[in-house]
Amino acid sequence: MAEPIFSMEHVGKAFGDHVVLRDITLDVRPGEVVAIIGPSGGGKSTLLRCATMLERIDAGSLRYGDVTVASTGSTGQVAYVKGDELRRAKSRFGLVFQSYNLFPHMTVMRNIMDAPIAVQKRDRAEAERQARSLIEKMGLVGTEDKVPCQLSGGQQQRASIARALALNPDILFFDEPTSALDPELTGEVLKVIRQLAAEDITMIIVTHEMAFARDVADRVVFMDGGTIVEQGAPDQVLGNPQQERTRAFLARYNA
Ligand SMILES: Nc1ncnc2c1ncn2[C@@H]1O[C@H](COP(=O)(O)OP(=O)(O)OP(=O)(O)O)[C@@H](O)[C@H]1O
Ligand SMILES: [Mg+2]
Repeated sequence: MAEPIFSMEHVGKAFGDHVVLRDITLDVRPGEVVAIIGPSGGGKSTLLRCATMLERIDAGSLRYGDVTVASTGSTGQVAYVKGDELRRAKSRFGLVFQSYNLFPHMTVMRNIMDAPIAVQKRDRAEAERQARSLIEKMGLVGTEDKVPCQLSGGQQQRASIARALALNPDILFFDEPTSALDPELTGEVLKVIRQLAAEDITMIIVTHEMAFARDVADRVVFMDGGTIVEQGAPDQVLGNPQQERTRAFLARYNA
């Protein structure tokens, strides 16, 4: 089997004495789409924030490909890579939140080209060609010179996805990418994520859209109380859950 694109092992995270992640072990293979579901407060966003180094882990390890970015030493302290190694690790993934991904004062074009040029030091003409191709792929032709407030929520979210893809990440993380959108705009965002899945882009998606998770994910992970309660094929976890907590959660959606 291929090496995981991303893995976390025995990860723990607390805010003060409030333990939010307990002994989380999760890995993602190239081309795999993993949907994370579960009740509010279960630790889904914290897991993504730890994976993308917006939060520090208190225990365990994080790896991107063959690079260990954080690990727990014999003293029990977690050490992170630094400097160039950290910067390289951070350019291996993209992150799309519910909203507020875009710089409000920049046009769509500049939002997409900014990080490739500023962070990755890529050639401007090449970054622009890529931005135009992403704009076309995301169905955003005509919005190049608009600023985010001139776009619909669905267009903003598709521009956010284009912005994340412009860094050529190995993996994309999504935290409830459609929960701030009206139902009709949700469909257009889910459609582009489906398209990325069909292109074998590796993704971890936190979502409350159960039909979407069933349809697009290779694996569904159910989290509650800071732990992975169960995981497996979508038909198994969503259709024939083994754990009572999973059944209780899903009952609210099937009602
Ligand atoms: N920065 C923080 N400081 C203190 N507590 C936090 C912080 N971030 C999250 N928490 C707490 O951690 C727990 C898990 O929160 P998290 O946002 O990860 O849950 P979630 O599964 O994403 O929930 P939702 O479905 O509502 O988005 C919650 O009890 C939350 O209050
Ligand atoms: Mg959340």
